[in-house]
Amino acid sequence: MLTVMKPKLPSLSQVSKYIESIDSSRIYSNRGPLVIELESRYGEYFGICEKRIVCVANATLAIQGCIGLSLASKWYVPDYTFPATILAVINSLKEVCLTDVNQETWKIDLDLIEEIACEKTEFGVLPVIPFGANFNLTEYSNFEHIVIDAAASISAPPVDLASMPSSWFIVFSLHATKVLGCGEGAVVICGNENSANLLRSWSNFGFAGSRVPSLVGTNAKMSELSAAYALTSLEFKDIEFAEWRSHLDYINQCDYPSRFRTFLDLENHARPYWLIRCRDQAEISNLEKFMFSHNIETRRWWPKALHEIDYFKHFPFFKQSELNDANSNTLASTILGLPLYRDIGRANIDKVSNLLLRYEVLSQFSK
Ligand SMILES: Cc1ncc(COP(=O)(O)O)c(C=O)c1O
Repeated sequence: MLTVMKPKLPSLSQVSKYIESIDSSRIYSNRGPLVIELESRYGEYFGICEKRIVCVANATLAIQGCIGLSLASKWYVPDYTFPATILAVINSLKEVCLTDVNQETWKIDLDLIEEIACEKTEFGVLPVIPFGANFNLTEYSNFEHIVIDAAASISAPPVDLASMPSSWFIVFSLHATKVLGCGEGAVVICGNENSANLLRSWSNFGFAGSRVPSLVGTNAKMSELSAAYALTSLEFKDIEFAEWRSHLDYINQCDYPSRFRTFLDLENHARPYWLIRCRDQAEISNLEKFMFSHNIETRRWWPKALHEIDYFKHFPFFKQSELNDANSNTLASTILGLPLYRDIGRANIDKVSNLLLRYEVLSQFSK
């Protein structure tokens, strides 16, 4: 079976110098030297002061911390995303309002909320940047409180980062399935040094210079072992980016029907996903079965709109009247993930692409 993904972190020989440094420092966690170094390296990578970078145990907790520290009490969350996004808001004990996404960009539909959010400081918006897409900050400039869930977009930081408002946060995941992964981890860009210090304190039981909590925090610290992997991934970033880009370029050149292609195919930075768009629910099911019968695994990454999931359906949906026609439903039932990983090989990409072509021919015959 050709699996939909096969994560590949740095090898033992690549990571060993950092592991040996852990052996000698005997510091395994609690903001050790490797986490401090990682924040510094990510400061260089993003071109901003390292004091605004915070490493956290994973992106779900990082988003929770940012939302909790932000002054807004009610958060607009896109209805099409991975559950981590909404769970982070729920667990921060803030209010959730689900909001539909744009059919073309798959991101939260700002036109829907523009009218209310620009006036009210108690509202926050949690845009999700889907599947490693690139993004810029200006599109959110009408909003005071923003936490961007850019989980898979670390290879495409916003070009206008220098203009980031001080009340905002941007969260990237370093999960093993992401680009520059380390196993479990996250990097947060904070709008200012003060909020970065608060986030560090939040992730360390609320401690800030003493063993008595100064805020209600949790344990969301990144371990030194995760930092060792994250530092190594960053050191070899050019190789990794080139691998993903070369696969994505090759996929773009493959001769499968253009109707399956999505806006993401026009972006050429490193991303860990090959996504296609099917016509409808019936087609996605047929295609899944067809691929499976040829030993190809596929995955609906976000198979249900959040409002369709039992545990989340009681949350208000912005403009309830439009629930049945929500774009989130359409996307959830038409976007399919195909196999992609760093050492997938062109023969495997060809195999999948040829099957897409074959599926198209067969489906035209059966009409
Ligand atoms: C959009 C989105 N947000 C958040 C997360 C959670 O990231 P992590 O696994 O680092 O907690 C993911 C994970 O895939 C994701 O896709």
